[in-house]
Amino acid sequence: MPLSNMRDLLNKARAGNYAVGSFSVTNLESVMGVIAAAEEHRAPIIIQCAEPRLKCTPLSMLGPLMTAAASQASVPVAVHLDHGATLPCVREALDIGFTSVMLDASALPLEENIALVRRVVEMAKASGAAVEAEVGRVGRGEDGSDSPEEAASVADCFRMEETGIDALAVGIGNAHGLYAATPELRYDILEQLGGLKTHLVLHGGTGLTDEQFRRLIRLGMRKINIATDIFRAAALAGHSDNIFSNITAASDAVKAVTKRYIALFGSAGKAE
Ligand code: 13P
Repeated sequence: MPLSNMRDLLNKARAGNYAVGSFSVTNLESVMGVIAAAEEHRAPIIIQCAEPRLKCTPLSMLGPLMTAAASQASVPVAVHLDHGATLPCVREALDIGFTSVMLDASALPLEENIALVRRVVEMAKASGAAVEAEVGRVGRGEDGSDSPEEAASVADCFRMEETGIDALAVGIGNAHGLYAATPELRYDILEQLGGLKTHLVLHGGTGLTDEQFRRLIRLGMRKINIATDIFRAAALAGHSDNIFSNITAASDAVKAVTKRYIALFGSAGKAE
């Protein structure tokens, strides 16, 4: 089926009180695994890759693989650029046909973050792609680089909404990668964001408890990013000297991990 727009998937998730999993992919095995999971669960999903990771797998190759796989899926799949750091990378993702792009300028002062996000909103208009921004800071970079976490200011979230974005990642004590201990999440921030029309996005999903996910979804979290668990599943599976059985093992391992999250997020059976 044609690629889905992330905005439409998140609008439906809001109406149905569930969250859509946004799964990070980096190779054929991970792409096949997450899509197979979504098809088995009849769930809409988002597949994404982050700009800092493209040093390893260039967008010019990974991007077309993602859009091809999404368009062959029997469930709605949106294709998203995660943590876009530069406008040329956002441009390339849009040109490849991504239906959603994130510009993460959360390390900059709010006004500079807003100015850059406005440019991306303009760039995305031609194709109608959805746009995600970040306010506050999710701890640690998506690629494991050092970066502090910072709770989002509620006022800043409402300011960012004025840019015309569709989705907003908020820092609430969450971090990418593996948590040393279950984090204390700032649910109080989410409780004050009920008036936002913009969909809320949770980064740093790997390592949170089932109860934390359920509470986050009750408080309006509509897109939940999972990367580390996908990468680990693919990396740890299939170490034989037969590349074909390794590929199947990695893809099956990614599928199993993804299916668990889809069931937890309440999106199983929501494909139309
Ligand atoms: P994890 O690696 O903690 O699952 O975070 C994923 C993420 O937020 C990607 O942007």
